Amino acid sequence: MAHDPAVAIYPGSFDPFTNGHLDLVERSVRLVDRLIIGILRNDQKEALFSVDERIEMLGEVVSAIPNVEIATFDGLLVDFASRSGASIIIRGIRAISDYEYELQMALMNRRLRPDIETVFLMAGEAHSFISSRLVKEVIRLGGNISGLVPPSVEGRLRKRLLGEQ
Ligand code: PNS
Repeated sequence: MAHDPAVAIYPGSFDPFTNGHLDLVERSVRLVDRLIIGILRNDQKEALFSVDERIEMLGEVVSAIPNVEIATFDGLLVDFASRSGASIIIRGIRAISDYEYELQMALMNRRLRPDIETVFLMAGEAHSFISSRLVKEVIRLGGNISGLVPPSVEGRLRKRLLGEQ
């Protein structure tokens, strides 16, 4: 039976995009017809990479994956989802500590727009300790982050934080 295409948003700051994010993208595209990676524009957090740099970085990493698009958004995530024709929001959960914040957001988003469903995917065990924040901290302090982010992202991080060419 024909059905409406399943469109999902995978939202986040992606400052920077990690292998944990990539794992989630690769697993999400198997579940939906179209996946839109939504980069939040007006984040309160001070970002290391500009939104344009993040679009570029993400493009380098996901361009070979079919049915994946990159977009940016301002304002409420559920409004962006609705404008994009998406009825699914995908979020990753790494550990129990993520759960409380994610549950709160999912419930608020459901209250705002009950027709949009949040779907949680568990991070792969190899990725459950990776976060953008820790990756930045480790590289800044001279630690090895290979395998934690895509090579192109590592190159940009080295340039930005260590001044390497
Ligand atoms: O992975 P991140 O960086 O924690 O992503 C957070 C994000 C972008 C999902 C969240 O901050 C968000 O949805 N912001 C948009 C504003 C909004 O809709 N706020 C109400 C959420 S309940």
